[in-house]
Amino acid sequence: MSSTRSATSTAGAERAVSARKVPYVNIGAQYAEERDELLPIIDQVLREGQYIAGEVIERLEAELAAFVGVKHVVTLNSGTDALALSLAALGIGPGDEVITPPNSFVASTAVVVNLRAKPVFVDVLPDQNLDPKQVEAAITPRTKAIMPVHLTGRMARMDEIMAIAARHKLAVVEDAAQAIGSRYQGRASGSYGDAGCFSTHPLKNFNACGDGGFVSTNDAQLAAKVRAARNHGLVDRNTVAQFASVSRMDTVQAAILRYRLKRLPEITERRRRNAALYTRLLDMGAVFVPPEIAAEYHTYHTYVIQSERRDELQRSLSERGVGSAIHYPVPIHLQPAARELGYRAGQFPVVEQQAQRILTLPVNQSLSEDDVRYVASCVNLFFDKRP
Ligand SMILES: Cc1ncc(COP(=O)(O)O)c(C=O)c1O
Repeated sequence: MSSTRSATSTAGAERAVSARKVPYVNIGAQYAEERDELLPIIDQVLREGQYIAGEVIERLEAELAAFVGVKHVVTLNSGTDALALSLAALGIGPGDEVITPPNSFVASTAVVVNLRAKPVFVDVLPDQNLDPKQVEAAITPRTKAIMPVHLTGRMARMDEIMAIAARHKLAVVEDAAQAIGSRYQGRASGSYGDAGCFSTHPLKNFNACGDGGFVSTNDAQLAAKVRAARNHGLVDRNTVAQFASVSRMDTVQAAILRYRLKRLPEITERRRRNAALYTRLLDMGAVFVPPEIAAEYHTYHTYVIQSERRDELQRSLSERGVGSAIHYPVPIHLQPAARELGYRAGQFPVVEQQAQRILTLPVNQSLSEDDVRYVASCVNLFFDKRP
C-alpha cells in the first residue's frame, strides 16, 4: 500500500515537473514588485537634470557608509573599478604581488594583471573561501596585498586574514562584490580591510538597473584618491592631480540604489529564508553544502550545492524547468588569459575539485516557498530520494 502511494505521488511529482518553471534569476518579478515606487524616483532624477554627481550621490554614499560601518564610501561605475581603483590607490603596481583565490569572477584577477602586478593564487577551504594558512605560506618580499573574495555571500575568515596582514604589514582589499550586508564575527563585509569593494551589477543582491559599484574605507586619503581617480584625476574643478579616467556612478542608478538600500534587509532575509528551506529539505547525504557557522551572517548571493554528478543533475533540473548556474566552471588559473602567469592544473586541488562539483540553485528573493520546495524535490528526486 505504502509503495503504491509512493509510486503514485512520484508520478504526480513527475507530471507537475514539466509544467513548472523556476528561473535562476527573476529581475522582472523584482521590477513588478517595485515599479509603483521606483518610477517616480527615476522620474524625479530625470526632471531635475542632475545626471552626474550631486546630492543623490552624496546621500547614497553617506547611507552606504552607515550601512557598512565605515567613514567613507565612494560610488563608482562597477565593482571591477572599485577593485582596480582601490589597489591603485594603495600603490599596487608593476612587480607587486597580490594574494587572492583563483575561484572568483575573473574581475578579481584581471584588475591585478591590469596594474602589471602579479596575482598569487592560493587554494580555498570547503566553504570556497580563501584558506588563511595557505595565504601566510604564499607571502614573499614582493607581496603587497591580500585580496580575499567573499564568495557566495559568505565572508572569508577575516580575523585570521587581518592578523596575517598585520604581521607582514600588508594591505587588505576585500572583494565584497557578492557579499553586501554579510557579517563575520559581528563585523560587516567591507569594514575589515583597507578597502571594501562592492558591485551593484543587476544580478547582485543590492542591484542597480545597470552597472555600478562602490568602495568602502576608513582611510580618508584612500577615499580621496579613489574619488579623484573616478573623475579624470580632478581634485577640484580646475586641478588635475594625476591623469585618470572616468568611473562615476550615474545619478539615476544612485537614486535606484537609495530606494533599494532601504529594502535590502528584507531582501536579504527573504534570500536567507529560501536558503534555510533548501538546507532543511535537501538530502545532505547526496549533496554537500558547507554548513553555516555561528560566527557568520551569510547573505546568499548564491546557494551552491556540490555533487560529483553535477552535470547530470544540472541537465535533469533543466528538463524539470529549474534554472541553475555554475560559479565558476573554469578556475581563473586555467583560463587562456592566465597562460602567461605560469600556473598548471593540479596546483589548487580544492578549487579544481569544486569547479567540477559546484551548482548554484535559484535563491533570489522572488521565489515562493513552493518554488523552493519544488527545486529541492527535483534535486532529491534526481538522487532518488524525496524530502
Ligand atoms: C567576486 C566578484 N568580483 C568582482 C566582480 C565585478 O563586479 P562588476 O561586475 O560590478 O564589475 C563581481 C561581479 O560581477 C564578482 O562577483
